[in-house]
Amino acid sequence: MATLTLDSVSKVYKAARGRPVTAVDAVDMRIADGEIIGLLGSSGCGKTSTLRMIAGFEDVTSGHIEVGGRVIDNLLPAERNIAMAFEGYALYPPLRVRDNIGFALLRDRQPRAEVKRQVEEIAELLEIVPALDRYPPTISAGQQQRTSLARALIRKADVFLLDEPMSQLEPQLRAVLRARLKDWLITRRMTTVFVTHDQTEAIALADRIAVMEEGVLQQFASPDELKERPANLFVASFIGEPPMNLFEARVDRSRSGLGLAVLDAGGARAFELRFDAEVAGLADGAAVHLGMRPHRLRLGDRAGAVQGTVTSHSWLGDQTHVGVEIGGTECIVVAEGEVPARLGAPIAVEVPLRAVHLFDADDGRALFHGSEAAS
Ligand SMILES: Nc1ncnc2c1ncn2[C@@H]1O[C@H](COP(=O)(O)OP(=O)(O)OP(=O)(O)O)[C@@H](O)[C@H]1O
Ligand SMILES: [Mg+2]
Repeated sequence: MATLTLDSVSKVYKAARGRPVTAVDAVDMRIADGEIIGLLGSSGCGKTSTLRMIAGFEDVTSGHIEVGGRVIDNLLPAERNIAMAFEGYALYPPLRVRDNIGFALLRDRQPRAEVKRQVEEIAELLEIVPALDRYPPTISAGQQQRTSLARALIRKADVFLLDEPMSQLEPQLRAVLRARLKDWLITRRMTTVFVTHDQTEAIALADRIAVMEEGVLQQFASPDELKERPANLFVASFIGEPPMNLFEARVDRSRSGLGLAVLDAGGARAFELRFDAEVAGLADGAAVHLGMRPHRLRLGDRAGAVQGTVTSHSWLGDQTHVGVEIGGTECIVVAEGEVPARLGAPIAVEVPLRAVHLFDADDGRALFHGSEAAS
């Protein structure tokens, strides 16, 4: 329960052979007291390295880490008052599950009866009561993982670090525990950084999400902000399910003084979108990536709709995902309810301005978000 600050934190692993690996590259994060942060990114992007530096199991190569305004870089892990649930659980095999969970409290000489009560409370929350008197090697991976999570959550720490805390659980249990975990963290105002590969989990749990790729923090923002105003192409394609549709496009401002993004699919102008290029600061002739959120597109043949061909059709019980080929590029339209669509049939797609995002073709940075212009 404290603020947590990462000030240009980097981690370079020196290899005995070969080149050093920059696992974390000048990451800045300012995390408020009681804030819940999700760390999201593909495998190897530096999530665990970041947590291990905060906890003190790895040195920072450069930069500083502060907890509650105090630099902790040179403190031993035990001196930091940070609780961590490890990716690999790191349970003590000779101790029963209940003693693993209560370990830190017993070490701090808290009364046994009180520790027992707290252990049982958290075991109930995480559905591992039947495992309490067993030993870690004799319980399932999912139970081991929850034991590790319980051992961290039971503590009174300044900061909580949870490395993929629910990755072993089946989806139903995960959803139930996610809600309980959120409640637990909020009620106790626990400053938390959790790692996940699951964006639904990140969105459901986190106040803000840090998206990392190749050691670099790509964007650190609320779930809404990540969806509405992705900072770059990486974030845009990483967040959102199904992913954002992407087309290569070129800006044409030669007509009617208006900015005009014209899709240039293999040289053929498959469709045009008109909008005020001054807003986006787009130069005439600029090559861009045109992104369109599948949920924001509409099927229907009103004026300005784009013509395409149906390439796939999946009814998911409440929505239909319709694959549409436009000028040689495939995109997905998410339609509410069941939509009849025949493979190979012509179909029209409306592209509301608020579905549209533009990114620089060279460096991928965001140039324009239609939702800002449409509001
Ligand atoms: N002890 C180490 N020595 C050398 N390189 C390491 C070490 N630990 C991690 N790395 C490298 O640093 C990079 C980041 O690893 P890290 O474990 O932080 O990624 P991650 O985002 O947690 O991945 P995952 O989602 O697979 O757990 C990877 O390239 C990894 O190979
Ligand atoms: Mg990891």
